[in-house]
Amino acid sequence: MTDKYCVIGNPIAHSKSPEIHAAFARETGQDIAYERRLAPLDGFADTVRALVAQGYRGANVTVPFKLEAAAIATRLEERARLAGAVNTLRFDGIEIVGDNTDGAGLVADIVRNAGVALAGRRVLLLGAGGAARGVVLPFLQQGPAAIVIANRTRATADALAAQFAGHAAPGQVVACGFEDIAGSGAPFDVVVNATSASLSAAMPPVPAAAFCQGTLALDMMYGKLPSPFMAFAARHGAATRDGLGMLVEQAAEAFFGWRGVRPATSAVLERMRSTL
Ligand code: ATR
Repeated sequence: MTDKYCVIGNPIAHSKSPEIHAAFARETGQDIAYERRLAPLDGFADTVRALVAQGYRGANVTVPFKLEAAAIATRLEERARLAGAVNTLRFDGIEIVGDNTDGAGLVADIVRNAGVALAGRRVLLLGAGGAARGVVLPFLQQGPAAIVIANRTRATADALAAQFAGHAAPGQVVACGFEDIAGSGAPFDVVVNATSASLSAAMPPVPAAAFCQGTLALDMMYGKLPSPFMAFAARHGAATRDGLGMLVEQAAEAFFGWRGVRPATSAVLERMRSTL
């Protein structure tokens, strides 16, 4: 019998997840069906309950339900608990297991696809919202020399850094404001834009000093054209990358969690790129 999955969001029509998971299923020979599911803004929990009743095996969760998904889970993987957000649900008997594969997806895209090791490197993380929160633990697990979290609202960066004190060496995770970046050990080996600035065609006020030849600058957003952040980083010597690889890799990590099989991603990433 075909196992059923879906991606829940509002809006959801734009989601590329069905295409990605269908490609993974074909490639691995897994018998699954995967569809989009629009949940009413006040109806996320009801939607999940209906899926469980209908025998679905799991779901991906996207905007604006990632926090609610963490609340509804009966069990959370550690990386989801620390992220405070869930992008993958697994329906396992009476358990609703919440996971967060965004950070692992970003790490896979940087380390495997871009070929840039994080071990011993200096990482600058721009932003301290939901997207940034999800990547700190997976980054730390790679053993970077430092993770500097810079945010417009300094207090949010401080709180995020403090949350990981127990998972990091002293001084390994530090917070600052954008105005302090140049004095916080710049330039960096890897700079990740986890702010939502690109959504409004803006960029966070990161100084040119953050980048040098050899820096990898990655924007979590993706589109046909480079974001203002990517264009700025490229002008200052960095190699750039958008968030499409992270999207495909977080899906592969979710697929692995559901099916126990790791799909190959490069052909899927290439195809998604060609249809942007
Ligand atoms: P997400 O889930 O996408 O991370 P979020 O939790 O609302 O969304 O967080 C948005 C992040 O982008 C925050 O770090 C926010 O900074 P503040 O904490 O100061 O609000 C950041 N952000 C949004 N627009 C920005 C801009 N134009 N310049 C710099 N930072 C911006």
